Amino acid sequence: MDALEGERLESLTTADADGDERAVEAALRPRTLDEVVGQQRVREQLGLVLEAARMRGRAPDHVLLSGPPGLGKTTLAMIIAHEMGSALRLTSGPAITHAGDLAAILSGLNEGDVLFIDEIHRMSRPAEEMLYMAMEDFRVDVVIGKGPGATAIPLEIPPFTLVGATTRAGLLPGPLRDRFGFTAQLEFYEASDLDLIVRRSAGLLGAELEHEGAAEIASRSRGTPRIANRLLRRVRDYAQVRASGVLTREVAEAALELYEVDALGLDRLDRGVIDVLCRRFGGGPVGVSTLAVAVGEERETVEEVAEPFLVRLGFLARTPRGRIATPAAWEHLGLVAPTPTDDGLFDLD
Ligand SMILES: Nc1ncnc2c1ncn2[C@@H]1O[C@H](COP(=O)(O)OP(=O)(O)O)[C@@H](O)[C@H]1O
Ligand SMILES: [Mg+2]
Repeated sequence: MDALEGERLESLTTADADGDERAVEAALRPRTLDEVVGQQRVREQLGLVLEAARMRGRAPDHVLLSGPPGLGKTTLAMIIAHEMGSALRLTSGPAITHAGDLAAILSGLNEGDVLFIDEIHRMSRPAEEMLYMAMEDFRVDVVIGKGPGATAIPLEIPPFTLVGATTRAGLLPGPLRDRFGFTAQLEFYEASDLDLIVRRSAGLLGAELEHEGAAEIASRSRGTPRIANRLLRRVRDYAQVRASGVLTREVAEAALELYEVDALGLDRLDRGVIDVLCRRFGGGPVGVSTLAVAVGEERETVEEVAEPFLVRLGFLARTPRGRIATPAAWEHLGLVAPTPTDDGLFDLD
């Protein structure tokens, strides 16, 4: 009980929620491939790539990790460095606005280092071109000066492993994609895997989680470990403040209802998207930008966070003319989908 008391004080008095979340995430991150739950195929393939590199005493091939947010891309990048016993250098696409930014990072690398570029699809074009050369030849040309007097100074780079992460593999130019020796496409997790993840996290957090409570959290986590861990923390708060501290099914249900996560795991944004699509646009088709404005979100958020899950549930379809809601989406909202044979009397608009 003393330990729980301490946890409660900490979570109630931490003002910086983002910092808190990052710190908790770091504590929950698997550190080796063996600790990773699920993603069987990726784990096996990546394990082979790393093992072979170790046997040859070489830096492994460049690795591209692609998939929706929260599925373990950053975790895997850290694991690659850890398993190779290499130093990890972290940066992100948006931080590299000039080729010079990238040249500075590359020239600071040591042999065998792992360079992790998160959101690699958001890197600037000139930096991207510099990266092609660095990946392939471990060499870049640094241009000094401008105009006719500009000179290119070749710079050797020690062999390193680039690990790129992207939520949008489709946005990567072909030449960049082709230079990765291995691409891991992360998939949403099965409920049984999320169940294991939640129970592992509860153990690390010292929370008393019953099997049925874990199942409830897992089934509402949208196939995403980050969300599973976040829901676990909210349920833990609820259990401590409003119940006896034990995370039972009833406690999980009550907590998740309070936080507006429904039985299928849809949150406010997901429901907002299908709600607007059905009620305001008659089920579509409607362009994603319009949809984003209507729910008051960034287009990227709708596209990368809400849509993949809605598509996976079969609630939303992406067509060349725009997004459309499926009958299942109408049904989930408790509405009746208009039928093509409708005589128009009950048109929504
Ligand atoms: N396969 C996994 N097994 C256990 N926990 C995981 C797994 N994948 C992700 N997580 C957890 O989910 C959180 C988010 O993972 P992260 O690697 O940051 O996702 P991404 O970089 O893809 O957005 C991490 O804190 C980690 O604890
Ligand atoms: Mg990440």
